[in-house]
Amino acid sequence: MDLVHTIDDLRAALAGRGRPSFVPTMGNLHDGHLALVRQAKPLGDVLVASIFVNRLQFLPTEDFDSYPRTLQADCSRLEAEGCDVVFAPSEHDLYPEPQRFTIAPDPRLADLLEGHFRPGFFTGVCTVVMKLFWAVFGGAPGTAVFGRKDYQQQMVIRQMVRQFALPVDIVGADISRAPDGLALSSRNAYLSPEERAEAVQLSRALQALAQAALRPDADLPALEAAAAQALRARGWQPDYLTVRQCSDLQPPQGKPRQGTLVALGAARLGTTRLIDNLEF
Ligand code: PAF
Repeated sequence: MDLVHTIDDLRAALAGRGRPSFVPTMGNLHDGHLALVRQAKPLGDVLVASIFVNRLQFLPTEDFDSYPRTLQADCSRLEAEGCDVVFAPSEHDLYPEPQRFTIAPDPRLADLLEGHFRPGFFTGVCTVVMKLFWAVFGGAPGTAVFGRKDYQQQMVIRQMVRQFALPVDIVGADISRAPDGLALSSRNAYLSPEERAEAVQLSRALQALAQAALRPDADLPALEAAAAQALRARGWQPDYLTVRQCSDLQPPQGKPRQGTLVALGAARLGTTRLIDNLEF
């Protein structure tokens, strides 16, 4: 497995090796990332993973500085999964000058939910993903795999790829969960043992919300408020628990129809912000 840090070295490592499949990450890899890597492996001739903690997608109050950097352990795990090339640029390698030119996603999609609570997040994500796509694919066709835990992120990236006609197939990977149902996330490592035991309540709240939303007399705003209040009573600070249309993340029009909806949630437990979602 090659470990490269600059775009030039990445291009040299990929030259003549065919169509890449690509898994972008911020490192501190867990089993969920490795599932993405396993899914990506047969989708190209050469498998690339990137590891880059992207300052542009963090608010000044968020955990950019403390985000765990575990390059050696990450590389060992990637090598064991058959990854061919790891691209781990420094900030200077990827942003040699202040990044003044950014990708502004469609506010109708990107200013909702995560974008509302993390202003600028999707501009930071789109800008780095565009840059990573150019570094890895150089405008040639390929495939990139993203986890569905970041549901809105995947939708924003699909729209970016479509609107810029990038020749990249975006593949969504199912959420990997711990045996108790907690969605795997690098940020789970921040949880104390007590918080870790409690953390599964976010996915349980989404399950209950989804079930209740399908009842004929469902009052969605009331159900969402009750779901948030139930988590608050357990010591969480919810940002949102909501039922949206899968197609555009807008509130459902008319009577909610099974198979077209997604329950999404984001809530803080102690200092750790967790997100999860459930299509139904
Ligand atoms: O989902 C992530 O880990 C990040 O948002 C990504 C796509 C690697 C961009 O920094």
